[in-house]
Amino acid sequence: MAENIGSIEALLQEDRTFPPSEEFKKQANIKDPSVYEEARKDPEAFWERFAGELDWFKKWDTVLEWNPPFAKWFVGGQLNVSYNCIDRHLKSARKNKAAIIWEGEPGDWAVYTYRDLYREVCKFANGLKSLGVKKGDRVTIYLPMVPELPIAMLACARIGAVHSVIFGGFSADSIRDRIEDSQSKLMITADGGYRRGSVVPLKQNADESITGDTPVEQVVVVRRTGTADAQMVDGRDIWWHELVSDQPLNCDPEPMDSEDMLYMLYTSGTTGKPKGIVHTTGGYLTGTYATTKWIFDLKEDDVYWCTADIGWVTGHSYIVYGPLANGATTVMYEGSPDYPGRDRFWSIVEKYACTILYTAPTAIRTFMRWGEDLPESHDMSSLRLLGSVGEPINPEAWVWYWKNIGGGRCPVVDTWWQTETGSILIAPLPGITTLKPGSATQAFPGIDAEILDEAGNSVGPGGGGYLVIKKPWPSMLRNIYGDPERFQEQYWSKYENTYFTGDGAKLDEDSYFWLLGRVDDVINVAAHRVSTMEVESALVDNPKVAEAACIGRSDEIKGQAIVAFVTVKENINTSDALITELKQHVATKIGPICRPDDIHFAAELPKTRSGKIMRRLLRDVAEGRALGDTTTLADPAVVESLKEQYGDED
Ligand code: WTA
Repeated sequence: MAENIGSIEALLQEDRTFPPSEEFKKQANIKDPSVYEEARKDPEAFWERFAGELDWFKKWDTVLEWNPPFAKWFVGGQLNVSYNCIDRHLKSARKNKAAIIWEGEPGDWAVYTYRDLYREVCKFANGLKSLGVKKGDRVTIYLPMVPELPIAMLACARIGAVHSVIFGGFSADSIRDRIEDSQSKLMITADGGYRRGSVVPLKQNADESITGDTPVEQVVVVRRTGTADAQMVDGRDIWWHELVSDQPLNCDPEPMDSEDMLYMLYTSGTTGKPKGIVHTTGGYLTGTYATTKWIFDLKEDDVYWCTADIGWVTGHSYIVYGPLANGATTVMYEGSPDYPGRDRFWSIVEKYACTILYTAPTAIRTFMRWGEDLPESHDMSSLRLLGSVGEPINPEAWVWYWKNIGGGRCPVVDTWWQTETGSILIAPLPGITTLKPGSATQAFPGIDAEILDEAGNSVGPGGGGYLVIKKPWPSMLRNIYGDPERFQEQYWSKYENTYFTGDGAKLDEDSYFWLLGRVDDVINVAAHRVSTMEVESALVDNPKVAEAACIGRSDEIKGQAIVAFVTVKENINTSDALITELKQHVATKIGPICRPDDIHFAAELPKTRSGKIMRRLLRDVAEGRALGDTTTLADPAVVESLKEQYGDED
């Protein structure tokens, strides 16, 4: 924590400010700062107004029931998320508006109007029913970024099944753990997906994840790449196109209680076992609907592109549910930003005349390295607002983004939130907030965010500490699937009745929030959450490894890079070949995003006298810093020898 705060001092030297331009302000959805005060006075009434803009089959009786740490929102109300994202737009001219504009990596593309989306979702929902899927059943979705992914999610929502989407970059073991935890009987996958010109063999990973004892009984397969025709398993696998071919075009939406589960999404925590974050129906939809509308200043004719993968929460909330609940046009791109050229993103912006672009700092830093010429060679005058998410954005990247992508005319909204929060909690309102590059600025109206010191005192302007949320909010996680004790312990035990985010933050003199990164054993690699424990267990899973410790070291592009310190078993030779083998082992076990960037061999790992690995000192070694306090080390010689060995490398 202290180290993090040290490094942020430089950030706080940032004194450039960007008030909203007159032109932007004039057209903004929200111009009057009194919304903050209004929401502060009566947060429940504030949220209730947004809930009232959705379509309910039955209105709620009570806005909030709060039995810490368990919240229930819009209690007694009934609605359906798929109905709100599709059917209600069919009553107006929106019915023929583009809901999803999709572009595949090879250059194929498709547009789904709201009416098209209705038909495809209904057909697939009927298909799911014909396979025996019922309300409350869990369905695992492991798909590339193809239209069938949001269609499958919405179809689950339509019939009240709970989806569990697994990012297409995860490997068989990770899928198996998640399937086991969720007890899904059905999996939806594809033969493959395109990434950087090659095919990612999703079906093969999916097949490996359900060998032996598995709850999965049936697999629906989207034919995307034509690479798994010979791998269809009789009696278990069914093609998507065959399943939907004869289904009726209408499917009544299941009335869901506001607190019925909508989905679960696994995220990394401080232990090796991923947590299934539980989101429910009414509150989640209200939160994503409200924040999309206000933070992105969404208008009827916007073409909104969030570049995330739907396998992460950003895609759930800000490609699918938030934009579609608003009746927006949402763009989806299947592949890599550098295929076939490094200007792919800018050609997509130009081609579809995107007006809003929402991406991650790690991408922005990569684009900076690739140079200004690429965005300059495209007409991006359609853009009017830019967003950033997933990790702290450094002021240089913020200003580069503002100038070179936004042409100096688009506000940049830096949005802080988490899988657990469901929707954005800290971000500017672009028609009101004066922006400061590197700061996510202020809590969204109705959100009570504070920074506390170790003892639980509010630090006030100028102070640093732990970011917490003091009042419940509609889209908050309701539980960890099947593990209420861990839910309690992880988020609610540090301070009483207060949500602990796991992030460090600092408040400046104007009470703006500056996010500093995680304070726990989670590292943020290219805006993806990776648990050090997960990587460590994958490493010790290799028979040559005795012990491993992982840390995140700062990385210019990815924010953080994964560094592993490994002790090998007796009689094992350390070599470059072993480093390659271990990196590959982790990639195969968990997924390529968890592949360590560096592996250092260590005769011993630095530990406290009680045997706890001192990762803080390993970070000092990896980042070439002077060692912090070493007084609690069992054997100071251990870290000194590591420092000699590796200290100058980075
Ligand atoms: C980090 C992604 C600084 C933070 C939406 C958080 C950020 C974790 C920002 C959640 C931001 C996300 N500025 N840090 N604007 N946005 N983070 O669950 O550490 O994948 O706890 O959700 O990302 O990651 P998750």
